[in-house]
Amino acid sequence: SRSYVIDAIPGDGIGVDVTDVAMQCVDAVAGIYGFGVQWRVRDWNSDLYRKAGRMMPVDGIDQLSSGDGIYLGAVGTPDVPDDVTLWGLLIPIRREFDQYINLRPMRLLPGVVGAMPGIGDLDIVVVRENVEGEYSQIGGRFGAGTDGEFAVQESVFTRRGIARAARYAATAATERGGRLVSATKSNGIIHTMPFWDEVVAETVKEFPGVVVEKVLIDALAARLVMKPTSIRTIVASNLFGDILSDLVAGVAGSIGIAPSANLNPERRHPSMFEPVHGSAPDIAGKGIANPVGALWAAAMMLDHLGEAEAARSLTSAFEGTLADGTATPDLKGTATTAEFAAAVLSRLS
Ligand code: NAD
Ligand code: IPM
Ligand code: MN
Repeated sequence: SRSYVIDAIPGDGIGVDVTDVAMQCVDAVAGIYGFGVQWRVRDWNSDLYRKAGRMMPVDGIDQLSSGDGIYLGAVGTPDVPDDVTLWGLLIPIRREFDQYINLRPMRLLPGVVGAMPGIGDLDIVVVRENVEGEYSQIGGRFGAGTDGEFAVQESVFTRRGIARAARYAATAATERGGRLVSATKSNGIIHTMPFWDEVVAETVKEFPGVVVEKVLIDALAARLVMKPTSIRTIVASNLFGDILSDLVAGVAGSIGIAPSANLNPERRHPSMFEPVHGSAPDIAGKGIANPVGALWAAAMMLDHLGEAEAARSLTSAFEGTLADGTATPDLKGTATTAEFAAAVLSRLS
């Protein structure tokens, strides 16, 4: 029978709580649809860093490469610098496995209280370039201790990197009405974004059914708040896509509901699924984290594994729970993470 090996990295803070819920619910749908999931749970987090000086073993990437997929909660904790937690785990996984697409869908979920009014048919996909752009390691801090101390950060955009993101986004747009919005800043970032615009425009020409509209990122942010239903598919650079995906989630009610798939579309390497949110130190340990983003990400993982029916069933289970009025405090509800999880599981039995 069908069986998948998934590396689960719960990580830090609420990453642990929501990963636990995701694993339980995936096991439940796997039971219903007759496949198995073998979880390899990894204790790769800030505690390991405090003990061993590393976020993951030296051969961590090798260990992950034999699996069918990776499921991540979140990493980050107040007493360890973010560059250690992120560049020691999250970013290397995205890069080593060439997960160059970060797919971040958002819809208005049923029963959600606190979403912006009038967004009933909100349905947006952010296609975020996930391995280059503004997130480069080129640069540094210089002149520490002097009056002239400064920091430099280079962005690196490649023709191939932009084109493959645009191609993926144009393919998505084909099935989503044909209009693609490209987030840019070609008026103000004089080397990189005009190049982005040019390569996006050229690439989208390969898709006769797709029209690309470039929108400056500042105006796009306002438009996503004021008229979010006017946009269905967005292609964005690494940093712009990061910001827009939290923005769109906020418009739809909470960043706790947003999912993310870090994809290697050619399937030469495992892909990684995670909620969009971080470890939320402000609510860690309180048992009130919203597991919806984590569950939606788990559904995207099931879909990626070819278990579309199980993915749909898991999605209906968390949507039905929300529609029933069960919600965590970020959505103005009173449910704990455990209560929400129990309600989802009861729909999967
Ligand atoms: P965050 O997403 O952790 O939290 C932002 C706000 O949203 C907080 O008020 C938090 O309580 C709330 N929130 C987030 N997820 C929620 C959920 N599921 N349910 C209810 N409320 C939720 O972002 P931050 O505070 O800017 O970052 C905290 C840490 O997480 C940092 O160390 C950051 O680097 C890290 N981070 C990691 C990842 C990742 O591992 N993929 C992603 C983003 C941030
Ligand atoms: C995300 C996160 C990460 C990113 C951070 C933690 C480096 O915000 O996955 O959205 O910017 O990619
Ligand atoms: Mn982010």
